[in-house]
Amino acid sequence: MRTGIYPGTFDPITFGHMDIIRRALKVVDRLIVAVAQDTGKEPAFSLDMRSQLVKEEVALLANGDSKRIEVKPFTGLLVNFAAENNATLLIRGLRAVSDFEYEFQMASINSKLNAHVETLFLTASEATHFISSRFVKEIARLGGDISHFVSPNVARHLGEYYSKTEDYSID
Ligand code: COA
Repeated sequence: MRTGIYPGTFDPITFGHMDIIRRALKVVDRLIVAVAQDTGKEPAFSLDMRSQLVKEEVALLANGDSKRIEVKPFTGLLVNFAAENNATLLIRGLRAVSDFEYEFQMASINSKLNAHVETLFLTASEATHFISSRFVKEIARLGGDISHFVSPNVARHLGEYYSKTEDYSID
């Protein structure tokens, strides 16, 4: 039984992440989607909300795929979380050359921290390679259409979030 971990901030989960999740299931028997607390970013959504949204997206997967996926929030180092869950494979999506340096560094550091852990890169599909959570949030904040990038459920939550936190009035 091969267990893989797909870690990320998922703030929020996009069609790009879902594409990687679907394809990761072709190489692992069981996939843990690990929602990180410690990311060096300042997420809009709380850890609980990010995890909840990932769970809701995963539940919509067809062919019983969702039964092979577990969504877990985690704090602390990813390699420790991997060891606690008997996983030796980390899955990451690569979108463009610009992702490469950061991802290469992260994979190297993780393998230094735990030599049993391997990182496997899946290239983002043509339909999703341009998506980023940061841009999705910016478009949502400015009232644009994000339906090409996230599900209706995620779009609704982002809409609610920005309607509460933003004041669009111009003095
Ligand atoms: N298609 C489209 N977009 C994608 C994508 C794909 N296939 N894969 C990633 N993205 C986007 C995301 O939307 C996100 O966009 P943003 O930067 O605008 O927010 C970006 O690419 C990367 O986000 P994500 O995949 O969520 O990963 P991350 O870089 O935020 O995650 C962790 C980093 C969680 C893996 C890392 O911080 C970590 O391991 N933290 C735990 C602490 C630790 O161990 N630190 C040491 C690490 S060396």
